Amino acid sequence: MGHAYQAVGWNRQKKIYDGVLLGAILLYLGGFLGLGFATHPDATFETMLIRALGTGALLLLHVILSIGPLCRLDRRFLPLLYNRRHLGVAMFILALGHGTLSTIQFHAFGDLHPLVSLLVSNTRFDNLAQFPFQPLGFFALIILALMATTSHDFWLSILSAPVWKALHMLVYVAYALIVMHVVLGVLQTETSLWLSGALGAGVLWVFGLHIVAGRREVRVDLTPAGVEANSYVDVCALQDIPEKRAKVVSIDGERVAVFRYDGRVSALSNPCQHQNGPLGEGCIRDGLVTCPWHGYQYRPDSGASPEPFTEKVPTFKVKVEEGRVLVQSNPQPAGTRVEPATFNAEEIDV
Ligand code: HEM
Ligand code: FES
Repeated sequence: MGHAYQAVGWNRQKKIYDGVLLGAILLYLGGFLGLGFATHPDATFETMLIRALGTGALLLLHVILSIGPLCRLDRRFLPLLYNRRHLGVAMFILALGHGTLSTIQFHAFGDLHPLVSLLVSNTRFDNLAQFPFQPLGFFALIILALMATTSHDFWLSILSAPVWKALHMLVYVAYALIVMHVVLGVLQTETSLWLSGALGAGVLWVFGLHIVAGRREVRVDLTPAGVEANSYVDVCALQDIPEKRAKVVSIDGERVAVFRYDGRVSALSNPCQHQNGPLGEGCIRDGLVTCPWHGYQYRPDSGASPEPFTEKVPTFKVKVEEGRVLVQSNPQPAGTRVEPATFNAEEIDV
């Protein structure tokens, strides 16, 4: 096993990440309250805190939604991805604070249970200016709570990676609900333009970034599809793959990471077993394919993690002919050893 191999636990990098995150949150809340009271001296502390927590959560949600596409576009953003789950949990805590304080302030002193009051006290569905925007925030909060409580790797193994991923895709539903919560809520009465301007810019940023990064992915997915079983597909030239790195190609709709290292070529299924990270965007370190997200490692020839770890990804048979890399269209079962293709130094200049 490579000495750099480490399961994702508490380590120095995570502690620094969390320290910076906590500092940034406290700075934001302090700055918001300070500026808020300077410009609205009559506002109550609760109202100002509700606003600071709500806007803080929404800002953090924009950061979270931007990290994935940013990493696709530029590897220098990868350190942000390392502990993205803690960003999600921190965002949920801010949103929970905002939702709880709002529920207390607006619904705790009537005859109804506060949660019932939150859901039924306003039924003006026919009027945009008075629309019941609070239930929209409540449903978004339920989604965020589900995501925060299942964010640990324990749940990932219980639910399986595809189910976990599908659950966490609900973040986009939560985002849409929150945008509507703000548009139909505070923006109906807010006269200053800063919140509507900032929200509009935020939505455009998130959409734009996903479209730009998505176009790159589509380019990969447009490569060979509908190929015959067991046939070899010409995926790229040797020199298209940098030494100790990979090229991600799509064969019949499945993403394959083709690695070149020390005169050999091996191909593995691209999604990492940990959280579906893109193995092909990682590198070979200590002779092992290393996932760029949290450093899980796999042997390039067998797709199996070094002992004592048990993760395995499918492998593909590979050939090199006259400087071209050919990958067999169907995968071998996860963890199956496949002889790497070898090549001579001259072939790389063909
Ligand atoms: C139980 C759930 C929620 C309730 C009861 C609730 C309630 C409210 C209320 C009453 C306002 C207007 C406050 C004012 O006019 O001063 C508001 C605004 C806002 N909410 Fe929520 N909300 C909930 C969930 C959320 C969530 C999950 C987010 C985002 C992650 C969020 C983000 C915001 C933002 C950005 C504003 C505008 C800034 C502000 O005035 O606070 N809310 N919410
Ligand atoms: S190590 Fe976490 S996704 Fe690969």
